[in-house]
Amino acid sequence: MTDDSRRQELEQLATEIAYHERAYRAGAPEITDAAFDDMFDRYRELADELEVPEEERLDHAPGADHTDGFVQVAHRVPMLSLDKLTPNRKDSKGAPMPLGEQLDNWFTRRLKDLGDVEALDLLVEPKIDGISVSLIYERGALTRAVTRGDGKKGDDITLQVKAAKAVPQRLDLKKGSIEIRGELYWPLDRFAAYNEALVARGDKRIMNPRNGCAGLMKRKEPEGIDVAGVTAFLYQVAWAEGLKLPGRQSEILAWLAEAGAPVYLDEIHVTDSPSGALAFCEGYAERRGTLPYEIDGMVIKIDELRYYDMLEGTGHHPHWAIAYKFPPERKATRLRGISVQVGKSGKLTPVAELEPVVLAGTTVSRASLHNFVELERKDIRVGDRVFVEKAGEIIPQVVGVDHAGRPADAVPFARPSHCPSCHAEALAEEIFLYCPNPACPDQVRERLKHFASRSAMDIDGLGASTVDQVVEHCGVRSPEQLFSLQAAQLENLERMGKKSAQNLIAGLERAKGRGLSRVLVGLAIRHVGTTMAEDLARHFGSADKLLDFAARYTSGDPEAIELVAPEKGSGAIEGMAKKTADSIFSELSSAGVRDVIAGLARQGVKLDALVAVTQNVEGVAGKTFVLTGTLPTLKRNDAADRIKRAGGKVSGSVSKKTDFLVAGEDAGSKLEKASKLGVAVIDEATLLAMLG
Ligand code: IVH
Repeated sequence: MTDDSRRQELEQLATEIAYHERAYRAGAPEITDAAFDDMFDRYRELADELEVPEEERLDHAPGADHTDGFVQVAHRVPMLSLDKLTPNRKDSKGAPMPLGEQLDNWFTRRLKDLGDVEALDLLVEPKIDGISVSLIYERGALTRAVTRGDGKKGDDITLQVKAAKAVPQRLDLKKGSIEIRGELYWPLDRFAAYNEALVARGDKRIMNPRNGCAGLMKRKEPEGIDVAGVTAFLYQVAWAEGLKLPGRQSEILAWLAEAGAPVYLDEIHVTDSPSGALAFCEGYAERRGTLPYEIDGMVIKIDELRYYDMLEGTGHHPHWAIAYKFPPERKATRLRGISVQVGKSGKLTPVAELEPVVLAGTTVSRASLHNFVELERKDIRVGDRVFVEKAGEIIPQVVGVDHAGRPADAVPFARPSHCPSCHAEALAEEIFLYCPNPACPDQVRERLKHFASRSAMDIDGLGASTVDQVVEHCGVRSPEQLFSLQAAQLENLERMGKKSAQNLIAGLERAKGRGLSRVLVGLAIRHVGTTMAEDLARHFGSADKLLDFAARYTSGDPEAIELVAPEKGSGAIEGMAKKTADSIFSELSSAGVRDVIAGLARQGVKLDALVAVTQNVEGVAGKTFVLTGTLPTLKRNDAADRIKRAGGKVSGSVSKKTDFLVAGEDAGSKLEKASKLGVAVIDEATLLAMLG
């Protein structure tokens, strides 16, 4: 997979995540939490691979689960995440890497890290899909419960945990202090019973046990929440004083159980080989559906605790454990029909209309068929029995077809010759079909939704259904028209009212100041995702200059072409190939885009790049830096910011043009490449000295 296609997928995911977050916040989620998590996992993976600076990432959420009104408590030992084995991992040739191979690699690295030990026992535990909690017990009495928060500090939920009777208030420990970690969860039967009671009262049901549990644990007045039946599994001792602990994780679990803690002792397995661990995980998948609680995978841990301190880990995850995620559930169902969806850029996508089937907890009746070429290649016909799967995707996918069971009268699906929304003649481009009419009603709606989305203008209060309504009832057709909406017009829309109308007006007002790069993302120009938009905004500084340039480029001005798409080497905008440049600048020169930009300007939308003040520092200004590994004090994105503010450039990959590689701990392939190319490698201290 190339960086370009990674970037494209990342940007696509960012848009989809934003869309589903808004749907969720609007109380109308369209996908399960698991599907959302899968999508987010894939986003994180790509963002890691592309080294997206942390402040640009969607998962950059300082104080992650912090709720106003809760006291924040620092964790004595950080609460980290887990690295995981994933079906998305590819080998150096781009082929999917089997989980067994990934686990073998992980195991071999650990043997090496530990000084070539010969044997290593592994403990496999279920991975509970709940919310992590840190519990302090002093002389056996529960004194404090804290959420994970941002990993460094969490919210004090002692009152809530006690009121919910979610963990024992006393353990059988006469002395000492101990921090025990575990997972709070809502058993499925208790969750269902609670929901039934809600529905009987005429209240809305809670979507899923994990979020429901998190909600209960953040109740400001938690009296009486014990009726809900939230409980916990405890699995880890973070530190202990005045207590003698056994030396293995498997023994810790037994020790905790002995002291009266809730532990899944019957569900664990010790083995001395990665293949044994994997076999247990795979076998456990069958039990998954029969358990009285939800698990989202397994955790494979090194059993001997004395090794934990010897394995350094990253700021994100320790090296003594790795998670195994279950493969996505796959179901067979009947394909009732194929409809055609029109995207924001006019792309026509075939969508499977399915006989409803329950998949990973939700009823699925539509699934993506990707594109017409794929549809024809797989020879999928209406009436076929097809296989659907949810795997890191927003809507489920049709992954296969059973040709043997095909009805005799099934005919191949004919590609649409016209757009199903506006009936314009469809155009073919590469493997896709497009509706060429920018005024197409479906395109208009999709473009407005995209313009309002978080990665673009982030207009609070303008969700998908509100967009549909302002198109239908307020005659909005183009982004600039959003900014002339009046509260009085909005108040009468469905599910609106005075307050939300005012909020939307305020949201629009705030969005005006987001700056050029967000406007560019919002215009849904092909090939212009977040990174490209920022590069363009940074380079040209204002919409006027960018449009002038686009006009020169498209009229064939050799100087303009040389600047961004030179025949040799790369141009002023990193990663912009000639074909991309042709497409971007011709769209920017189109009357449609120009009109929208002029309209936005009239509405007072800021069309200049938001730039951080730069003060050139000698030795840094004009130089290209690459950051890799974990730096001792600075976060990578902070380091990148400081370099940029000093006039330097930060790039994601090492090349001959790199001046300095700033290497932290766990620096990998970039360090190797830098050494090969003779690029200067510096550490954080040197960088700080250079920055003055
Ligand atoms: S060990 C460094 N064991 O999964 C974190 N975590 O995805 C070590 N989780 O934050 C945690 N079941 O909240 C561990 N048996 C288990 C778990 C488990 C669920 C959660 C935990 C962690 C998250 C990471």
